[in-house]
Amino acid sequence: MTAGHASALFASTFGDAPRVVASAPGRVNLIGEHTDYNGGEVLPIAIDRRTWVAMGPSDGTVSRAISSTQEVAGTFDVRHANPSGAWWDYVHGSLRELASLGAEPVPLDIAVVSDVPPGAGLSSSAALEVATLLGGLVCVGASLMKGWEGLAAGAHRAETGFVGVSCGMMDQTASAYATDGHALRLWCDTGRREHVPFARTVLVIDTVSPRALRRSAFNERQASCARALAAIQVVDPSVRHLAQSTPEQLAAAVIDTTDRRRARHVIAESARVEAFTAALAAGLPLGTLLRASHDSLRTDYECSTPELDWVVDFAEAAEGVEGARLTGAGWGGCAIAVGSEEGLQALADAIAPAYEARWGRAPRTWLTRAEDGADIDEVEGLDPLDD
Ligand code: GLA
Repeated sequence: MTAGHASALFASTFGDAPRVVASAPGRVNLIGEHTDYNGGEVLPIAIDRRTWVAMGPSDGTVSRAISSTQEVAGTFDVRHANPSGAWWDYVHGSLRELASLGAEPVPLDIAVVSDVPPGAGLSSSAALEVATLLGGLVCVGASLMKGWEGLAAGAHRAETGFVGVSCGMMDQTASAYATDGHALRLWCDTGRREHVPFARTVLVIDTVSPRALRRSAFNERQASCARALAAIQVVDPSVRHLAQSTPEQLAAAVIDTTDRRRARHVIAESARVEAFTAALAAGLPLGTLLRASHDSLRTDYECSTPELDWVVDFAEAAEGVEGARLTGAGWGGCAIAVGSEEGLQALADAIAPAYEARWGRAPRTWLTRAEDGADIDEVEGLDPLDD
């Protein structure tokens, strides 16, 4: 799929060429899981799956054509929008943020095409939010200099404030700012970012499992973390984020045993981002850190599934594979494996039939590298690639 598909869908729906096509990718997180909403570190990469949003000012005729969840078009007037629980909440929520970036929200015709699989834990919603906001900025002629810096925060507010899903800042930040050949190291307490060279191939394995309990379990974990932080602040009021507290402070806090395990994961996992970055720089093996992360998510954070555990064990045992772990929120979704290109290709070939034989459904697998974040692909009358 390309920007051309979004343009073509726009033209066939609205009878005109779009003013702009913007795009943004999905992501996988290499390490640092459930740390973002605890002020810790994360290390995502943008993947080679994107969402393209073609846009132009609307003449006021409201049309909506939905051909599939990954190909949609419609007219959006954010001045009259309320959350409805539908996919276009992501679009409305993002367009509403135009105002916070100094631009006037006006009715827009929008066509969306995407090859980020929805519901797989690869941040299809962040890709849609970031691409919509970026396209909207160009469409209404806002200052891109200012808008680009506010892109991730605006898209994040769309998700938390409008759509009403409470999550950390990792997904929108990776989708907005990741760069080709690099992982994005992000300090979620300050928003500081660093591009870490990452030229490797990653195998993504989607367990294609139902994620029915994910939202409620995610909220429960956030509540656990908030209670743990409050208990640690009794010991040391200067601690501002759970991920920055120490194992000693956690040991001294009066806290329920389940909350303690959740906090133990967060503190150790955030530290693993630093260790992983150092191992990458030194060319050291990554398997031990990936395994430690997965085990901590499985036992302390309890967000793995039997399918994810099986995939990680299978991957780890394969020749040419350094290690594997679940990626994203968990409770279903995807695992990643890191290793040599041939090792990962062989793993992809071997795991598909074995997974299907064990779990009764075919997994989705694909190889990816660290790709670019959000981009402006086409602007009326200009070739943005000429810069
Ligand atoms: C989801 C959230 C992210 C992050 C991960 C877990 O993907 O959207 O903000 O919390 O879970 O690391």
